[in-house]
Amino acid sequence: MSGSMEFSRAGSFVPTAAAVCDPAESHAAAPESQQTKWAIEFEKVSKSYGAHRVLVDLDLQVRPGEKVTLIGPSGSGKTTVLRLAMTLENPTGGDIRVFGESILFDTAGKPLSIRQEARIRRRCGMVFQQFNLFPHLTVLQNLMLAPTTVLKQSWEQAEKSALEYLRMVGLEGKVRAYPAQLSGGQQQRIAIARALILKPEILLLDEITSALDPELAGEVLDVVRGVAHETKVTLLIVTHEMRFAREVCDRIVVFDAGRIIEQGSPDKIFSHPESERTRSFLQSVLNH
Ligand SMILES: Nc1ncnc2c1ncn2[C@@H]1O[C@H](COP(=O)(O)OP(=O)(O)OP(=O)(O)O)[C@@H](O)[C@H]1O
Ligand SMILES: [Mg+2]
Repeated sequence: MSGSMEFSRAGSFVPTAAAVCDPAESHAAAPESQQTKWAIEFEKVSKSYGAHRVLVDLDLQVRPGEKVTLIGPSGSGKTTVLRLAMTLENPTGGDIRVFGESILFDTAGKPLSIRQEARIRRRCGMVFQQFNLFPHLTVLQNLMLAPTTVLKQSWEQAEKSALEYLRMVGLEGKVRAYPAQLSGGQQQRIAIARALILKPEILLLDEITSALDPELAGEVLDVVRGVAHETKVTLLIVTHEMRFAREVCDRIVVFDAGRIIEQGSPDKIFSHPESERTRSFLQSVLNH
């Protein structure tokens, strides 16, 4: 990160001409991670709610830096995949590894302690359809909360970092605004900055534009495009924005009823889908 911002004693800032965020640097995978074959790996993962099998023996591997979009009909298990990766849910069976390390079990096969889990889950960040900003905190305070509490950064360090990420999402002018004073698109850009400030190596995006009008969705997608192009972060995206997925992602994975029915390059999936179910799903989305 460049240290090209100046701070007044009151905490306001004067950006200098060279004030730039260097996301490529901040999200570069650690050397150890670069040697790992998979950023995230699902091995025979199943998830059931009672008798309802939501994921069935899911095998999915994502390379470090790969940009992958999950598509499929409503209820096919896409959000569940992201929630499992974020340890917001526990699978019923199987294992999930982040940069080669299980997020469920230690090397002796015992469930991870809360501390071990917290360490590993920090490698992932997630942005949801609903922005989930704290309404009583300003934009700056929303961004500084996790760095100061989770990462134990100094107030100065966290503010500097927050301002750089605000600049990255084009909202450095909104430092003192409260979420209610921002448009939905702006709130979502803040939510992205809030996830990125913790420097996740894997970023999980779950329908982050679904609650937005097309114009505001466009602003948010532009920010994600920037993240995809300028950083080495691994992206797992659930979206109905097929044009965006085609343009930004390396691979499309098609889910149906808790299983992957087809996957491949955007060109293969969108122009030459093999499965009839993929074809009918794409038709329904594209005609919507
Ligand atoms: N907490 C829960 N309790 C019971 N069933 C659940 C729970 N969470 C998800 N499900 C069920 O799991 C299935 C998969 O849900 P999931 O949210 O992963 O689907 P999705 O592919 O993301 O769908 P959508 O496109 O509508 O967001 C659905 O049938 C859903 O009803
Ligand atoms: Mg979902």
